[in-house]
Amino acid sequence: MDVKTVPTFKTAFENEVFQGLTAFPKFLSSKWFYDEQGDKLFQEIMKLPEYYPTRKEYAILEQLDVHAFEVDEEGFDLIELGAGDGFKTKVLLKKLREANIPFSYKPIDISQNALDGLSADLKNRFPKLDVEPLQGRYFTVLDELSKYSQRKKVILMLGSNLGNLPHPKAIEFLRQLGDTLNPQDLIFMGFDLKKDPAVILPAYNDSQGVTAAFNKNVLHRINRELKANFEVDHFRHVPLYDPETGTCKSFLMATQEMDVRIESLDLEVHFYKWETIHTEISQKYEHSVIKWLCSEAGLHPKTYFTDEEDYFADYILTKT
Ligand SMILES: C[S@@+](CC[C@H](N)C(=O)[O-])C[C@H]1O[C@@H](n2cnc3c(N)ncnc32)[C@H](O)[C@@H]1O
Repeated sequence: MDVKTVPTFKTAFENEVFQGLTAFPKFLSSKWFYDEQGDKLFQEIMKLPEYYPTRKEYAILEQLDVHAFEVDEEGFDLIELGAGDGFKTKVLLKKLREANIPFSYKPIDISQNALDGLSADLKNRFPKLDVEPLQGRYFTVLDELSKYSQRKKVILMLGSNLGNLPHPKAIEFLRQLGDTLNPQDLIFMGFDLKKDPAVILPAYNDSQGVTAAFNKNVLHRINRELKANFEVDHFRHVPLYDPETGTCKSFLMATQEMDVRIESLDLEVHFYKWETIHTEISQKYEHSVIKWLCSEAGLHPKTYFTDEEDYFADYILTKT
């Protein structure tokens, strides 16, 4: 019998690629989309005509009265999870500066490249703003947030990033986030709402093929960082939307049978023709589901703001 030992991994990326590509069915987490190339592609996605979430949330933030954060002259710490390039956050930062509300800004992201770009841009735009970036994954940086207990904190999570987690994980995440809150703190979180599937699906399947390139970038990344030989052209980007559950899923589908060698993991991966790797979920919500997630996590949905078409909602959540 050929017994293979599980290798020791130097990074979380190595570990998760091994776990995901030796599982059945195969999967990879969407958090690995975001390297330098992935960050660039996501910035292109945000500008696509089909990609409504950025435009809709931008419109909500443009209308928002920042006094909704209930801050006083003592000021507060604004902590953003999965900040990316901060395109929409800058609307808020500008408003807070104009309202003379003292605050510090702590963007957190798994992508160091995104944080470097954002910090450089903020230095130019708001030279006096106190910016303290932190690189890390959501679940691993939660402890860090507990240290922010001197003054009020507002935790920002825009772009419906929570929707990348299936409901049980989202509840666990919200509960842990709630554990870091003091009574005066709040969470400001984006949720993409259920709507016409004819609007949702093209947002993940644009006519220019940018989303396909974004999805496939994870294979290029494995090739680059883990010395693999994926023939990326032999995979197809396949997005699906289930209007009953509100779950949009993206897959990479092998269009022919093949073997792939991942040198750094000492691993051969076999693909059958039409076999898939599940790479992303983007959950769409009903208000009742948001309420349920919050109650399961011990959070109170205090109020929400939406756009004219009810495509997207930003909620203020507090501790119950
Ligand atoms: C869909 S983009 C949204 C960016 C921004 N919040 C917006 O609304 O435009 C997701 C961002 O979250 C980061 N991210 C994804 N998964 C993450 C994780 N598990 N931990 C930390 N950051 C993560 C990515 O690097 C990316 O910058």
